[in-house]
Amino acid sequence: MKKAYNIIEHNYDVVVVGAGGAGLRATLGLVENNLKVACITKVFPTRSHTVAAQGGISAALGNMGEDKWHWHMYDTVKGSDWLGDQDAIEYMCREAIPAVVELEHYGVPFSRTPEGKIYQRPFGGMTTEFGDGPPANRTCSAADRTGHAILHTLYQQSIKNRAEFFIEYIALDLIMDGENGCRGVMAWCLEDGSIHKFNAHKVILATGGYGRVYFSATSAHTCTGDGNAMALRGGVPLQDMEFVQFHPTGIYGAGCLITEGTRGEGGYLTNSEGERFMERYAPNAKDLASRDVVARSMTIEINEGRGVGDQSDHIHLHLNHLDPKVINDRLPGISETAKIFAGVDVTKEPIPVIPTCHYNMGGIPAKYTGEVVTNLDGKNDIIVPNLYAIGEAACVSVHGANRLGSNSLLDLVVFGRSVAKHISNEFKENGKLPPKQKKSEEQCLDRFDNIRFSKGEVLVSDIRLKMQKIMQSYCAVFRTGEGLKKGNKEIEKVVTEFNHIGTKDKSLIWNTDLLETLELQNLLQQAMVTIKSADNRKESRGAHARDDYKERNDEDWLFHTLAWLKDNDIKMGSRPVTLRAMSNEVQSFPPKARVY
Ligand code: FUM
Repeated sequence: MKKAYNIIEHNYDVVVVGAGGAGLRATLGLVENNLKVACITKVFPTRSHTVAAQGGISAALGNMGEDKWHWHMYDTVKGSDWLGDQDAIEYMCREAIPAVVELEHYGVPFSRTPEGKIYQRPFGGMTTEFGDGPPANRTCSAADRTGHAILHTLYQQSIKNRAEFFIEYIALDLIMDGENGCRGVMAWCLEDGSIHKFNAHKVILATGGYGRVYFSATSAHTCTGDGNAMALRGGVPLQDMEFVQFHPTGIYGAGCLITEGTRGEGGYLTNSEGERFMERYAPNAKDLASRDVVARSMTIEINEGRGVGDQSDHIHLHLNHLDPKVINDRLPGISETAKIFAGVDVTKEPIPVIPTCHYNMGGIPAKYTGEVVTNLDGKNDIIVPNLYAIGEAACVSVHGANRLGSNSLLDLVVFGRSVAKHISNEFKENGKLPPKQKKSEEQCLDRFDNIRFSKGEVLVSDIRLKMQKIMQSYCAVFRTGEGLKKGNKEIEKVVTEFNHIGTKDKSLIWNTDLLETLELQNLLQQAMVTIKSADNRKESRGAHARDDYKERNDEDWLFHTLAWLKDNDIKMGSRPVTLRAMSNEVQSFPPKARVY
């Protein structure tokens, strides 16, 4: 049964979808420039997943030892296994410094050194002297609740500047118009069940990652990559989706994050023989090697029978040797998390941990200005007019094949800030073009109704679990060609089963059954392109480790993957990697072996 909806229309200069660190920083920058901005968010802003970011935000402030943004740039290029775009990486590392100082001035309560400067801790892969010096103290933290502190500050500043928030509104689809690109967003308000059409000159997707495609993830249940899926349905490809980061220290069984800051403060990992095994895998950086390296080493230890516990299937993280004052002052949050979710007193016992899905390097292809791009010939980028993507939803690509810890909060803030500057300048230079909208909302509401009035027997929870187990089995830390082919087939089967779901609750007010089904469809679309992209890339690079192609192969694979999805068919394409820096202030870094 189809329904006629009474659609409520709104007109804005800019609509931001998502109110995590990136969405809020963009919203704040835009309202500071007197633009009329709507920020649509499916959760209350301070409950966005950025709230869970613990360890900190990187910036070469040099508060606790010499540091330079050029070194930060080198570490990020190396961390990315040379798949990151060096112009964008330069921009991020250079702008990190003013962006973090600005956060401090907005009111973020950073931890302090005895002299009152922002406290900075070591993090994996962050070094000095272009990798030849000791670890860098580069990660600025507010104890182990840095994301929480940033999110609250940005929300308060946005409110102070009169940003308009539409809270508990679910963005359904982009309004795309072939000629003018993106013209707005359709959304459903959970509170009163109303359907909204947000007409806008510009739309920014800041919808975060899609970690919930996996069975074990540090991501919140809300991390369903809604913006990525809306982009796919709007004809925009997703980039580098095969690169999924597994954080070495998710709590065994529960998946909750235990920050890398624990190892930055001196924590270390051991196997069942009590051995600090990272010394074998990364003789220099040891427990502070980059995340993909640590996650793979842990997985090898477990696979070779040296895991801990009854089933030898996890690893121990030790903090019990640290001064309790360090734990109380700098790691209070994880002490509580470890107590609640692992029953462990970190001052006395090790925490049981296991590599857990944490971050999606892939996403909507975008420039450092936030402008979304596509590429049809593998050479020349084409800008998708009026559509922007930032934060984890975007692939700029500053993280390439593997992100360094604490570069994520940085990415949110730097690119939230840059998209606001870019759009504000565009409005100043070009004025406001009247939205010319050709396409109506029908397609979006057809999809909504098909799900809302579905009558099949299949349960959403069953399909979600199947998808998560397939992704965890075939597309996690290690991958094989055979496994990926099998996983691909199984995901296709699950996608077919989705056609037989039945939504029990047909109402519109706080209908979480319908919401979860919409989110599941978004997840499935991303699962399809992720596993297909992983099967497509026949090499090992960063977080994409294939047993059947063990080496990085720059000759054949030094490019970004693009994947389009239409009627459940995937088309693959590519984009060149930018190996040039943005300015003459720094050299670019040609590919070389990546050793820690
Ligand atoms: O380990 C952490 O605190 C996570 C940081 C990050 O993913 O950047």
